[in-house]
Amino acid sequence: MDTRLLFQDPATFTTPLLAAFAVDIATGKDAEPLVALMTTSDAISNAAARVLGAGEFKATLGETLLLHAPSGLKAERLLIVGVGKVKTLSVNEIRKGAGTAIRALKPRGLRELAIALPEDHALSDEHLESLPCLLMSRALVEGAELAEVDYDTYRSDRKDLSVQALTVLASESDKMTRAEIQSGFEEGLILAAAQNFTRSLVNEPGNVLTPTVLGQRAAAMCAEVGLRCEVHSTAKLHELGMGAFWAVSQGSAEPPALIVMTYEPAGSPAGGPVLGLVGKGITFDTGGISIKPSEGMEKMKYDMAGAGAMIGAMRAIAQLKPAVKVIGIVCSAENMPDGKAFKPGDVVTAMSGKTIEIINTDAEGRLVLADGLHYAKTLGCTHLIDAATLTGACVIALGTLNVGLFSNDEATVESFQAGLRVSGEQFWRLPCTDDYRDQIKSQIADIMNTGKNRYGGAITAAMFLKEFVGETPWIHLDIAGCAWNDESKHWLANGPTGIAVRSITEWVRSY
Ligand code: BES
Ligand code: ZN
Ligand code: ZN
Repeated sequence: MDTRLLFQDPATFTTPLLAAFAVDIATGKDAEPLVALMTTSDAISNAAARVLGAGEFKATLGETLLLHAPSGLKAERLLIVGVGKVKTLSVNEIRKGAGTAIRALKPRGLRELAIALPEDHALSDEHLESLPCLLMSRALVEGAELAEVDYDTYRSDRKDLSVQALTVLASESDKMTRAEIQSGFEEGLILAAAQNFTRSLVNEPGNVLTPTVLGQRAAAMCAEVGLRCEVHSTAKLHELGMGAFWAVSQGSAEPPALIVMTYEPAGSPAGGPVLGLVGKGITFDTGGISIKPSEGMEKMKYDMAGAGAMIGAMRAIAQLKPAVKVIGIVCSAENMPDGKAFKPGDVVTAMSGKTIEIINTDAEGRLVLADGLHYAKTLGCTHLIDAATLTGACVIALGTLNVGLFSNDEATVESFQAGLRVSGEQFWRLPCTDDYRDQIKSQIADIMNTGKNRYGGAITAAMFLKEFVGETPWIHLDIAGCAWNDESKHWLANGPTGIAVRSITEWVRSY
């Protein structure tokens, strides 16, 4: 999609379709909806006055209303997009509203549109504070770019419904400066492109995206945006003593890939923070010898979504150029049952020297991450964050709307959470205090790779990772519930979501 920003009155812009946002400004619990357009254009308000006056359109989130030949506008059509109640308005509603406009256009076979950047006049000062214009233009572009993509690449009967051109129409005001709108717009393009790159990786089936291919795609991306990238395989795992990572990989005909991407800004101070981004990259998880049930196993191609998130975040970081060194590490393998596969009862030695009794070969993510996290420390990382589709237990606990967040450091959690207002993604903290450690004590080795029972399975997994980060400030994100969208929404196709790319990038920018 060719997306541009113009400072022009939307009423005077010639386009097949102009979209404008509408919000319900009624206050009081049971008040009838009171719909206000988020624009100062009298021409748009006049064109929509009659239909809005009829009271049929309530401006609920994702609701749309299409007018042909709107009087007084150059546009051939006016699409009014609801973003819900003013009380709940945030960047997420703007993002979803923009996505709704794009996805409403597609089935109509239209290829071009313009969206009027929502203006502030309908909002109270209190809302404006939480929704500054930089975030507004950024969220609008993100929502539009994310909504444009469909995951039907492998269908011969796919129809090309791609939207070719989007013009964002903005006007300056005392609260919205041109420079702020412009930089929000540019950031939005970068972040959405990174997130869409992640989604394209996660969407690939296991036979296409092997660890080797994941390494190639990461390397190609790094070359494009100017990041250093090294992709290692079996020999390097042995050389580094990554016995936990290797154990997972050893049953597969596909060699593992250890991907190391480095962003080092010119003049970053020696002794300054170095951020380590570690991703679980299981390109297919059969469960191994502890094999998973057949039903739903096909979905386990997305078990590399944590790796995908880190590769996407590195892409955004390379383009946004924060003043901090960042190392992205992906541990990629295929978890297969085989004569050579690791098995329950095996004892493996991690790179850190800790011995691990394997109880269940389906708890493989924590094994590859154990070596990835320890390796990150040896490369000088002072702060660590990992992302992984780690446990079904996290999906049971939090469902599909919140990522499970675990940490050993309050300050790091705070700096991560500060960015969520911008990214709009939802995370919910779960505990990983030392009193849970008994869960992973082993009779045979230092620790075992599952808990004594199934209780608190997401926490047990986090406790296992914690063994390998030691005192280093660390955040663990269990994205198992949020990385794949089973049903399409008004504003987003079903399939991979690219969750956590924006939040991780925002966290990095806070240093
Ligand atoms: N990749 C799975 C976790 C998963 C499950 C992600 C469902 C998305 C949806 C992970 O490797 C796994 O299988 N974990 C086991 C751990 C158990 C054996 C302790 C699980 O969650 O059942
Ligand atoms: Zn597994
Ligand atoms: Zn897995």
